[in-house]
Amino acid sequence: MKSDLDLKPQKLNTRTRTVGPDLNHWYPVGWSDGLKPGQVKNQVLWEQEIAVYRGDNGDAYAVEDACLHKGVALHKGDVQGDELVCPYHGWRFDGQGRCVGIPYVDDSNRLPKKCLRRYPLKERYNLIWVFPGDPVLSESMSLPDVPEYDDPDWLIVEIPAHFNVHFSMVNENPLDVFHGHLHRDLQGWYNPVLVSMENDEDTVKAEYEVTFKNGWLPRILGLTRSKESEVKKRIGVGYYYPHCRNNMPGKSNYYFMRQPQGPMSTQSYSLLCLKIRLPVWLVSVVRKPLSRILWWFLIKPFLDQDIDVMESEQANFHRNPNRRHVEINPVIAAAQLLTVKKYDQYLQLQDTRLQKTSNNKVKT
Ligand code: FES
Ligand SMILES: [Fe+2]
Repeated sequence: MKSDLDLKPQKLNTRTRTVGPDLNHWYPVGWSDGLKPGQVKNQVLWEQEIAVYRGDNGDAYAVEDACLHKGVALHKGDVQGDELVCPYHGWRFDGQGRCVGIPYVDDSNRLPKKCLRRYPLKERYNLIWVFPGDPVLSESMSLPDVPEYDDPDWLIVEIPAHFNVHFSMVNENPLDVFHGHLHRDLQGWYNPVLVSMENDEDTVKAEYEVTFKNGWLPRILGLTRSKESEVKKRIGVGYYYPHCRNNMPGKSNYYFMRQPQGPMSTQSYSLLCLKIRLPVWLVSVVRKPLSRILWWFLIKPFLDQDIDVMESEQANFHRNPNRRHVEINPVIAAAQLLTVKKYDQYLQLQDTRLQKTSNNKVKT
């Protein structure tokens, strides 16, 4: 659906900063190469504590981070073979969440039949993805598609970031190209103009035209080879719920993958894909060091500025949640609407399922 591009006060949804995520999606919970065989880590997905571990066989598993016995955090235990062992009394659990051993019980028939909650898990793009919603729906939901990931013509820069803010604020940041003002001392963009916008049930997409001063940054990004002092470019932004993506056609694609941890905490795992003209053999050699350099000198300064302003936005929201703000960008208003709608749909689905379960119980 095409929308009105006028920059005028928008109707905002006052619940945006208080809703949760639709949990019936895949969410990243860490880099794959950050979890070695034999390691276990605690991860939080919208206040659900999850123990993510990698067995000696190399497979990763995710189970609730609370022992079946007395609720002790299982990530404090250790991995033995492909099993997770609780630190307290040594109960053992497999990757399906089944209790497969108790050190002081030798008859396996006496082991509890109850299981830990197990989370569907996938690994892709060097990321561990977990499905925190209804496991039945996990197969029908897909991961974000990153076609550049296995293409040697693209340099992939991994960008982790943590924000002490609600996930809606984090997602609005890359959709809001008007905030180039914040990055004015970093050769950021300026004179942004919103040129198109469309939205549907799952997405909000828009295009902006922006201007860059010619200099080292536009050259590194391959935006210009000319000697002109300014370059005009189109930036596409998109909210593909629950993650985001920005792109500069043929030059860069920036995938923002979010781990909403709680009402004031969001972890982000982004992949910046840059089209580079280097021989394939050289790309594989320089990929890691070059992405570290880009992270330190190009990405981090921008991110630090974003984090600083967003955390102040969150702090002020926390002090005065009823304060009304004014937004004139229709892209942000549409993104807020989508965030709230998705949560309401999720709650509705949960209610329907609960209703069905209780009806079935009454019948039996
Ligand atoms: S609390 Fe985990 S084994 Fe007892
Ligand atoms: Fe920014």
